[in-house]
Amino acid sequence: EEDNPDDLTDRAPIVTIMGHVDHGKTSLLDYIRDANVTAGEAGGITQHIGAYDVETKDGKRIAFLDTPGHEAFTAMRARGAKITDVAIIVVAADDNVMPQTKEAINHAQVAEVPIVIAINKIDKPAANADKIREELANLNILVEDWGGKYQCQEVSAKTGQGIDELLEKVLLEAELLELKANADKKGLGTVVEASLDKGRGYLATLMVQSGKMKIGDVVLAGPHYGKVKAMFDHRGNRLQEVGPSTPVQMLGLDGAPQAGDRFNVMESEREAREIANKREQILREQSVRTKKH
Ligand code: GTP
Ligand code: NA
Ligand code: MG
Repeated sequence: EEDNPDDLTDRAPIVTIMGHVDHGKTSLLDYIRDANVTAGEAGGITQHIGAYDVETKDGKRIAFLDTPGHEAFTAMRARGAKITDVAIIVVAADDNVMPQTKEAINHAQVAEVPIVIAINKIDKPAANADKIREELANLNILVEDWGGKYQCQEVSAKTGQGIDELLEKVLLEAELLELKANADKKGLGTVVEASLDKGRGYLATLMVQSGKMKIGDVVLAGPHYGKVKAMFDHRGNRLQEVGPSTPVQMLGLDGAPQAGDRFNVMESEREAREIANKREQILREQSVRTKKH
């Protein structure tokens, strides 16, 4: 279904952080999430979920995908999910550009996702940001402060130094993309993760990419479907309706879809059930075939 350009509105960027092991991906995500708590939310218990969104000090929204690494990014891409608008590549200033740094850069480039470099751990006495800039230049990643095209920011996920500036650079990169979505049609997007929550049923973290989704809507997600019983943000606040570039936890599916599965808000429960059953049948047949070989 084609979107009429008149129906499109601006949407927030969806950002993934990638980089070598221990270079500070999780620390950076944690710092950003905890430092950008909007008024009234302070004190809320933060659960770990696979996606969250923040409002920056300038009042701009950014959604983050908290994938365990670029394996997840690649797995999602392999399943046809284009879910990231900007990739932050984190490199520890007291280490080197490492094999996984190169892989992460490669993955972003293959996916044609713009890159912003974060030189992390700048608080450490052994930090040498220029050495990192040089190693990046040797990979044809020439940073802006050296006359290249890649935005780069020295940061510390420990002290918070440079992180506001990093987010500004991400937003600048995102502005160039002129990200738009139709906010009025039925919601669709990608499954980030899903699991069985004892007592509450299947809990799916979804990234809404366009359209809207509200309580009572029928959702089809991979081979599963169900009515939206409840929705929460990453702080556990209940949500009634969500729009584009919004990560949300949803209760109501009849099973756990896989990361990277697409989801859609459907016209009718009957249609959702039929498609879900067909998909389940196909998956069953595939698994029987795999077992025979
Ligand atoms: P994996 O998920 O295992 O690949 O690691 P990661 O990239 O998520 O790194 P993580 O955030 O777990 O950080 C690794 C270690 O570096 C932890 O001990 C952090 O406390 C530390 N660390 C991360 N960022 C900084 C920083 O800016 N400064 C300092 N001093 N330590 C940091
Ligand atoms: Na680690
Ligand atoms: Mg980590």
